[in-house]
Amino acid sequence: MIISFEGIDGCGKSTQIQLLIQYFTARGETCVTLREPGGTEISEKIRSLLLHETDEMNSVTELLLFSAARSQLITEKIQPLQQSGTVIILDRFFDSTTAYQGYGRESAAIEAIEFLNRLATHHTEPDLTFYLKIDPEKAAARNTSQNYDRIEKEGVGFFKKVTEGYDQLAELHKRIHTVDASLTPEQIHLLVTGIISDFRQS
Ligand code: TYD
Repeated sequence: MIISFEGIDGCGKSTQIQLLIQYFTARGETCVTLREPGGTEISEKIRSLLLHETDEMNSVTELLLFSAARSQLITEKIQPLQQSGTVIILDRFFDSTTAYQGYGRESAAIEAIEFLNRLATHHTEPDLTFYLKIDPEKAAARNTSQNYDRIEKEGVGFFKKVTEGYDQLAELHKRIHTVDASLTPEQIHLLVTGIISDFRQS
């Protein structure tokens, strides 16, 4: 089973992922969490280029690099884990590319990005996606880090466009569940585990 978490920077994904790992572990289930971009040696090298490169990066180059990191993660880690029946928790997946590179950067037409997503994922899709929705202004206020990466440096205007992207995706795909990120972490966790348990019973 693949569960992905999505949302703009500062939406509280990391806390939810930690709570979910504890939930599965307490139930004696094996689960693995992987982050995007990253998760393999090659993908971590690409991550460092994507997030910490100081030279100007063309937006199509950025789109292709996120996709390249993903293709490696899928073939090297996700496909073998899927075969072993492990629960895979993904800290971002291809919806991030549609929202950030498609809607935020407008690097390419959405159809082209969707095509690239299918190629890079080798047609792998999450069973469930949790979109933690937060107001971009509130998210910026929450993110008090002094070391913004290349993408976090974008202004609120960019994150508003990314949010529109996520909203559109959530309307289109049944697997995406929008969760109000302004609830407490415990409330969000209860909603998330409730949806997982319903999904497994269906
Ligand atoms: P990360 O430090 O993992 O941020 P977060 O904790 O918010 O997930 O950095 C990943 C950054 O890369 C984040 O700003 C979102 C961005 N991103 C894209 O723009 N496109 C993508 O396809 C992915 C996976 C991430």
